Amino acid sequence: MRVVVLTGAGISAESGVPTFRDADGLWEGHRVEDVATPEAFERDPDTVLRFYDARRRAVASALPNPAHRALAELEDALGDDLLVVTQNVDDLHERAGTRRLVHMHGTLAHALCTACGGVSTIVDDLADRPGCPRCGVRALRPDVVWFGEMPYELDRIERALVTADVFVSIGTSGNVYPAAGYVAFASALGARTVELNLVPSDAAVPFDEVRAGPASQVVPAWVAEVLSHG
Ligand code: APR
Repeated sequence: MRVVVLTGAGISAESGVPTFRDADGLWEGHRVEDVATPEAFERDPDTVLRFYDARRRAVASALPNPAHRALAELEDALGDDLLVVTQNVDDLHERAGTRRLVHMHGTLAHALCTACGGVSTIVDDLADRPGCPRCGVRALRPDVVWFGEMPYELDRIERALVTADVFVSIGTSGNVYPAAGYVAFASALGARTVELNLVPSDAAVPFDEVRAGPASQVVPAWVAEVLSHG
């Protein structure tokens, strides 16, 4: 059985990483256009770099929860037949043991050099303007995908969706494309679609099955069922 799992902020909520779309419409206290667009970075790089330095520190002290661990167990059983695609920029999936993982929106732990294009692990706060380890230029930005930018590894994700028997969406509100369109894509290609979410999303194409509840409970329960059915 070939499975593609898409995760969003909800899977990390119980690890203490806040989700994005709070009731007040702010993103961790900021308007999205002030911190998560290329225009914001041009206009006010200090605010943007400080925002991501703070998020990186918060994630570094968070721990994977049972939902992340259950997906790592699923990979132990399914091997190459499982691909986890995350919109999250935290590293909780890999710290739980997931290896076949696509970070379609990038990674908080990495810097992207706007001078040479090199990607490096962040050592010093980006707001302190460290030099790029490759070219030395002080032009690092977080290696995350901002609104208006192209997500990473779309070809690899689409190849996996084309052959998937099951598509599972976990803890994402389905507001941001292309990820929000994967349920329709997978469904049209014949995959069974499942949503695991605290509050079911308003998907344009309905999922075949929806299970509501906190990720730390519904994800391990779903994985246990899949494993018991072989
Ligand atoms: N367990 C399961 N799901 C949860 C939990 C929980 N404990 N807590 C919240 N959720 C669900 C919410 O019901 C919601 O559907 O997580 C989802 C969070 O939605 P968003 O905050 O919109 O996050 P996400 O869908 O990942 O956002 C997508 O938007 O801001 C950009 O690039 C950013 O990757 C992000 C993208």
